[in-house]
Amino acid sequence: MHVLVTGGGGYIGLELCRQLLERGDRVRVVDRFFFGAGPLEALDREYPGKIDAITGDLRGWDDAWLDGIDGVSHLAGLSNDPTAEYNPDANWQMNAIATERLGEACKRRGVRRFVFGSSASLYDGLGPGMFDEQTPVEPRGAYSISKRYGEEALLRLAGADFAPTILRQGTVYGYSPRMRFDLVVNTFVRDAITRHKLFLHGGGWQWRPLVDVSDVARAHIIVLDAPLDKVGGEIFNLMQENYQVRQLAMLVAGSLLLLGRTIKLEDAPLPPIVRDYRMTNLKMTQRTGFTPAVTVLESIDTMLKMLPIDDVAFLTNPRHNNIAWMTMLEETHAAQRPFASIY
Ligand SMILES: NC(=O)c1ccc[n+]([C@@H]2O[C@H](COP(=O)([O-])OP(=O)(O)OC[C@H]3O[C@@H](n4cnc5c(N)ncnc54)[C@H](O)[C@@H]3O)[C@@H](O)[C@H]2O)c1
Repeated sequence: MHVLVTGGGGYIGLELCRQLLERGDRVRVVDRFFFGAGPLEALDREYPGKIDAITGDLRGWDDAWLDGIDGVSHLAGLSNDPTAEYNPDANWQMNAIATERLGEACKRRGVRRFVFGSSASLYDGLGPGMFDEQTPVEPRGAYSISKRYGEEALLRLAGADFAPTILRQGTVYGYSPRMRFDLVVNTFVRDAITRHKLFLHGGGWQWRPLVDVSDVARAHIIVLDAPLDKVGGEIFNLMQENYQVRQLAMLVAGSLLLLGRTIKLEDAPLPPIVRDYRMTNLKMTQRTGFTPAVTVLESIDTMLKMLPIDDVAFLTNPRHNNIAWMTMLEETHAAQRPFASIY
């Protein structure tokens, strides 16, 4: 298969590209490469001639990017609340409108297979409960609202000639060559190593659905391969398990204790915005046969093996924290070109 991975230079995208290449597929990546192209270049050296990388912004869509493409995994865009809130207008153009335009282009060009990396954060704010794909959502915040618009726009386009699938991905954890340390488990791993201390805001009792990065990539591939009558026009929750934040801190602290490092757990006040929600992934398993393979504990173990854990400069590099990096890029850019934005 020849797959277009938008955002293929990102945290999930790189792992997806690696898995596709490993099984013999060809990959085209369209990405702004906000966080650099180094990891994708390394993958290109491993699989010469199999990756076609296009440095481009989805807002400047070019139909030629779909030439010869059999399926699309759409992962590009601003990928968390802080970056979306930093520039809500750019977020709307990238996450909502560009997703709709991409769907329209696929429909026009006869590319029926389409997987959208949406977010389980759509369930936030609904109160206690176990949410499934039928639950009416009331997204709040620029990021979730734009993701919901993208979902609805794609589902409106669905028909005989276009069969999009929405994956509501839980918060992702685990190692990727383009590392993110702004996701709860990964943040705890970094903080445990560099600060020997983890803070439990409000006691850390909040629930979050979580999933390993390799399972997310595998789920995208399962959907790209699945019979369209099973997955087309459908929404699926994607997670390994629901965890309480307090539990995650204990798993990270315990894993480091095994390496002889003592980590303190400290209570801290609740921040102004708290995310707390649970969901079920039953539909994904029943419909596609997908079962998540990597637990948080296993993923922490892999991270502690793969990451340069004695290299504090790597662990704290702003490039691995989306809002820190985007703010730095924006400020550097504005100093050179007043009133211009990197967003
Ligand atoms: N990581 C998670 O926990 C998580 C959870 C749920 C949903 N998601 C969604 O999955 C997708 C991938 O997330 P990620 O963790 O890999 O994020 P990431 O920030 O590492 O990757 C996003 C990639 O998209 C690129 N990009 C951003 N705007 C673009 C634009 N306008 N045009 C072209 N490229 C652009 C960036 O350069 C980056 O390489 C995102 O859509 C995110 O919202 C992520």
